[in-house]
Amino acid sequence: MADLLKGKIAIVTGAGSGMGRQISELFVKEGAKVMLADINPDGLKQTAAEIDAKGDATSTVITNVAKEADIVNMVKQTIDTYSKVDILVNNAGIVDNIKTVENMTDDVWDRVLAINLTGPFKAAREVIKYMLQQKDGGNIINMASVGGLFGSRGGVAYTATKHGIIGLTKNIAATYGIYHHIRSNAIAPGNIATNIQKTINDPDELGMKAMSAIGGMTAPGGKPEQIAQVALFLASDQSKFVNGAVITADGGWTAM
Ligand SMILES: NC(=O)c1ccc[n+]([C@@H]2O[C@H](COP(=O)([O-])OP(=O)(O)OC[C@H]3O[C@@H](n4cnc5c(N)ncnc54)[C@H](O)[C@@H]3O)[C@@H](O)[C@H]2O)c1
Repeated sequence: MADLLKGKIAIVTGAGSGMGRQISELFVKEGAKVMLADINPDGLKQTAAEIDAKGDATSTVITNVAKEADIVNMVKQTIDTYSKVDILVNNAGIVDNIKTVENMTDDVWDRVLAINLTGPFKAAREVIKYMLQQKDGGNIINMASVGGLFGSRGGVAYTATKHGIIGLTKNIAATYGIYHHIRSNAIAPGNIATNIQKTINDPDELGMKAMSAIGGMTAPGGKPEQIAQVALFLASDQSKFVNGAVITADGGWTAM
């Protein structure tokens, strides 16, 4: 075990699966205490059992990031348990079946925006209240996507939210970075093997065609552990001068 995050308190949303689980595991290995937040209680239990056998490095809170009351509760539980919050990883997210504008329903649009963009904004708003009072400020890491950099790495709702979360990231960095020591950075992963792929069903034909044109499903495949290493870099003091950045981790997909 190393000590890159010794004494740090982190919240990780979407901690019940995929990248959120791996990020939580690495943060614990590096000395952080982690509030594991997810809508799925079974996933949360599994993460806690896998990464914290002794039960002294993590806590869990069932959280739907689309519900403001859940976000407020998530942050309150963290403060009540650990007295501070140093790091927020806005990782929870869903996909939109690669739907084009003409086939996107209001229902899916609203749900994807609520989870992928409004939730991270509200979580940031909630932790920043505490971070502003902390001498060391704080650190926000937002999970974007290569879909936040290009137009054809997802459907319209997903793409819009991942572009949006990059704007959120940069606004927080620009507003709070210099005077309040709150850093905010984003990760833009490419194609990573997690459970999110299993939630894609009945994808839109035109959307898939657009994605195939740039390598689509044959893009280089990565592992959630590799994204966790990027999150660790951003969470630790090793990246102290990095603020408002978007780190692409896609095996070179967007270089093609
Ligand atoms: N896997 C990829 O290829 C890829 C690529 C780029 C970006 N991303 C992003 O990475 C993030 C993590 O995704 P993943 O690939 O690990 O997926 P995953 O499906 O394995 O994990 C996502 C987790 O988020 C949780 N979640 C979903 N809705 C929630 C809600 N309303 N409130 C709280 N938790 C909720 C799920 O229960 C799940 O545990 C997402 O933001 C996703 O958009 C994934």
